[in-house]
Amino acid sequence: MNSTKFTLTVLAAAFSFTLAAGAAEVKLPPASDKKDVTYATDIKPIFDASCVKCHSGDRAKAKLHMDSLEGILKGTKAGKIVTVGDSAKSFIVKSIAHATEDQDEWMPPVGNKAGAKTLTPEQVGLVRAWIDQGAK
Ligand code: HEC
Repeated sequence: MNSTKFTLTVLAAAFSFTLAAGAAEVKLPPASDKKDVTYATDIKPIFDASCVKCHSGDRAKAKLHMDSLEGILKGTKAGKIVTVGDSAKSFIVKSIAHATEDQDEWMPPVGNKAGAKTLTPEQVGLVRAWIDQGAK
């Protein structure tokens, strides 16, 4: 291999490595520094607007009920989505921050017809603070 070809090969390898590393590492927005974050005051309005349409009632998707604190802490048919006290480990945070590898797990689903909007980084930060403070 001549030196130009070698250089190009090295550059291509470095480039694809950068792409792979970028895809694996999705940063979560930082937790809000708001004190005394509660479900009733801060979090319910967010979930009511973005989740409840598909996650309530008899036909709740994944059997997840996002319209009560009890339902959220109970989780889906597959298990818990909130790790109380540790927002970075909580599946719900990865899901709303689009930090899971499987895009089907991003909630609300991108481009959904229910009009549920993707949470802003500030809203994700509030959810994080709420979980870190004990999910009260
Ligand atoms: C437009 C409808 C819709 C909206 C809005 C919606 N979801 Fe979902 N959600 C779904 C569907 C469909 C599934 C997949 C159900 C299944 O696999 O049985 C799902 C699954 C889930 C799961 C389980 C994912 C898994 O793979 O284990 C979680 C957690 C979840 N949603 C959380 C939320 C949260 C939190 C919100 C609001 C921020 C939300 N969803 C908004 C439709 C929706």
